[in-house]
Amino acid sequence: MTAYYRPRRLRTTPAMRRMVAQTRINPAQLVLPVFVAEGITSPVALTSMPGVQRHTMDSLVKLAHEAVIQGLGGLMVFGVPAEDNKDDLGTQAYAEQGILNQALARLRAEVGDEIVIMADTCLDEFTTHGHCGIVNRSGHVDNDATCDLYAKQAVAQARAGAHMVGPSGMMDGQVAAIRQGLDDEGFTDVGILAYSAKYASAFYGPFREAVSCSLSGDRRTYQMDPANRREGSFETELDIAEGADMVMVKPAGYYLDIVADVAGLSSVPVAAYQVSGEYSMIQAAGERGWIDTEAALKESVLCILRAGADVVLTYGAMDLAKEMKK
Ligand code: PBG
Repeated sequence: MTAYYRPRRLRTTPAMRRMVAQTRINPAQLVLPVFVAEGITSPVALTSMPGVQRHTMDSLVKLAHEAVIQGLGGLMVFGVPAEDNKDDLGTQAYAEQGILNQALARLRAEVGDEIVIMADTCLDEFTTHGHCGIVNRSGHVDNDATCDLYAKQAVAQARAGAHMVGPSGMMDGQVAAIRQGLDDEGFTDVGILAYSAKYASAFYGPFREAVSCSLSGDRRTYQMDPANRREGSFETELDIAEGADMVMVKPAGYYLDIVADVAGLSSVPVAAYQVSGEYSMIQAAGERGWIDTEAALKESVLCILRAGADVVLTYGAMDLAKEMKK
């Protein structure tokens, strides 16, 4: 049989496959989300996220040094305040002594500019009701009042030492409000990684345990409807127009159409967040011996990059970085 085209020729050896691989995972484009908790004296393992911990300030610093050694691109830092430090307005989110702001200051002092320090800019970890914003008397999340607090929170995070702030609350106009707030305080060099197309997803389940979020109900009035594709592009265009330095799609693996759309239209780098549920499902199946955890994790991130993401946030960042060195 004569076949002129035999694509298999390029798959014959590992060296051949490596040479023609269109997509590669580089640790520099991986961001590790991390949790720092108030009031604990040693790290606490998260049962719903194998391999992930709530950190003390000291164990967080250790992890950050390790991330630098592994060549990771960044850390996305989430704070978990003590229960009695939560209130209706999420005050600890913008207080200098709030756990997240303290952690940012400590991290910046320890690792300087060796890695990009990113801060989650959102109120849900800090509010008693668990919503991402302020809830008004009729039980609705007040968009504009929340944006004002995001700006305040971003300034506190910048002051503490964050290189980038990551507004994840999906309020309309949040990027513009934060840009204005940062600029007014002289933080013109602090960037905004905007969660632009963030969907109201069931895959955030394990994360809510991680940050002991008090939410009852859902976030469907502010996060996007998973049914909508076009809106992912629209939300992204708005954020870019408001001054986002990077945009993000979240979740990632089930939203590759959105990642591809956003990569196609965006004039700024595109990040995608492989969220807790995506990560934990791979871990859980691996624990049962149903799947090869390492291989599945690697493939899942590779596919997110292939769809067009420049940067991937994943709880597997450290493991992947080590794996890539082998
Ligand atoms: C909100 C926030 C959430 C996640 C990141 N930022 C939770 C939510 O929107 O309910 C989820 C991340 C994950 O599941 O890994 N501050």
